[in-house]
Amino acid sequence: MSASSRTEEEPVIRPYRDADRSAVAEVCLRTAAAGRDATGVYSDDTLMPEVYALPYVDYAPDLAFVVDLGGRVAGYVLGVADTAAFIDWYARDWAPGFRARHPRAGAPTAHRPAYSEPHLLADGGNAERMRIPELDEYPAHLHIDLLPELQGRGLGRRLIDTLRAALAERDVPALHLGIDAANVGARAFYERLGFHELPSSRPDAPRFGITTR
Ligand SMILES: CC(C)(COP(=O)(O)OP(=O)(O)OC[C@H]1O[C@@H](n2cnc3c(N)ncnc32)[C@H](O)[C@@H]1OP(=O)(O)O)[C@@H](O)C(=O)NCCC(=O)NCCS
Repeated sequence: MSASSRTEEEPVIRPYRDADRSAVAEVCLRTAAAGRDATGVYSDDTLMPEVYALPYVDYAPDLAFVVDLGGRVAGYVLGVADTAAFIDWYARDWAPGFRARHPRAGAPTAHRPAYSEPHLLADGGNAERMRIPELDEYPAHLHIDLLPELQGRGLGRRLIDTLRAALAERDVPALHLGIDAANVGARAFYERLGFHELPSSRPDAPRFGITTR
């Protein structure tokens, strides 16, 4: 096919498949520094996906949806319907392996992120960080990330709508999420979609919520 006859692939939102696992990890890494590429920010590029993406697709693959761009995964939304049940699973089935794989922080990189490697390691091994009693009325939570080439094209809104509909089908009333306060684009996105700010004990990690219907 000549370059001139090549048409741009239309992104398609579809359910997650097992074969997407490493692509999901890659998208997570490339958007994990307050929305920007976190490659090389930590001593080990597997850390961010092992905390914020892979446990989700392993625990609730049916609540994971990806953006497929010509056979390549370039974005996702990952959800859990019942954060309390996820915490129990994470503590039992994920955190021990995570702590064994990452017993200590590696050598600091030149990036010196505000979310430091010791803090990330502590979070990865600690399921209880996700328990927020004030948010009982928002039992689900999510993570959403799109590679830069897909941002600003309405796909974030469509992914959120897809997950909200899947949660509503399961009679889950509402969901919450946390953001890095430095991620001003994400805050603008959630506010535009009608999320409202929820209580958070940490000014660097605001929380937002929305009903599923
Ligand atoms: C944040 C993110 C998921 C938003 O998805 P997106 O596809 O870029 O956003 P959409 O195009 O669907 O935008 C939906 C609405 O939000 C608004 N919006 C999105 N990003 C915005 C921004 N940075 N500033 C202001 N408004 C914004 C859009 O204008 C749009 O409004 P409209 O539907 O009324 O026209 C995506 O940009 C992303 O993955 N960023 C990098 C990773 C990240 O930050 N993830 C979130 C971590 S909490």
